[in-house]
Amino acid sequence: MLVVTKDNFDEVSKEAAKLLATLLRRKPDCVLGLATGSTPLGMYKELIRLHKEEGLDFSKVITFNLDEYVGLPPSHSQSYHYFMWENLFKHINVDPRHVHIPMGMAENIDEFCQWYEEKIEECGGIDLQILGIGANGHIAFNEPGSSLGSRTRIKTLSDKTCEDNARFFENKDEVPRYAITMGVGTIMQARELLLMAGGAAKADAIKATVEGPVMAKYPATIVQLHQFATVVIDSAAASKLDGSYSGF
Ligand code: F6R
Repeated sequence: MLVVTKDNFDEVSKEAAKLLATLLRRKPDCVLGLATGSTPLGMYKELIRLHKEEGLDFSKVITFNLDEYVGLPPSHSQSYHYFMWENLFKHINVDPRHVHIPMGMAENIDEFCQWYEEKIEECGGIDLQILGIGANGHIAFNEPGSSLGSRTRIKTLSDKTCEDNARFFENKDEVPRYAITMGVGTIMQARELLLMAGGAAKADAIKATVEGPVMAKYPATIVQLHQFATVVIDSAAASKLDGSYSGF
């Protein structure tokens, strides 16, 4: 695992965008695994800038998002469909037919999850998976206790995650209790992982992820077992690490 510590979150976002853009230039038809939440927003802004100012081309890219709330239609302002189109897709030249986001309104969720797994496979697997991390160590919506071999499925969100995400809704009761999420096993099959984190609220989760034992209590710790995982964090998120990691 490569740990890259930057002075501030703006630099984290730029570094992550640089890594993604390098892959995109090398492999224009790459398959990207994308995340939502506050963490990737700065990286998406930088990717939009690279597209507009430097012609970074997304026309052949295929994308798969990590997760989506169950019960929110794509038009809902807090759905991850809406998030992705507002914050990235509508600003770049991605082909809408190449975009995949779990369907929170699917009639048969189990069948949908199976289809999602098969579609990832059919597209050749994910080349680079972007990950944020929950303060409780979740990745995607794989909450503490998730099987480390899990595949795309429906999950109940923990109280902590509902509390953390309540800031995006009118109140905590409006946060959906269920989500469709790629599994930990699905994520681990990506050829490369890029986990980003910023802020002191993530310091414990980052310490567990980088230095703790691998355990289902902190699903993010599994990234230690990935052959090509890069963790890009700011100094606040790195503040509880024992080791000093200089990165590149
Ligand atoms: C979102 C996702 C979540 C977030 C995590 C951190 O697609 O997979 O695991 O990455 O909840 O959220 P933020 O970035 O808002 O702190």
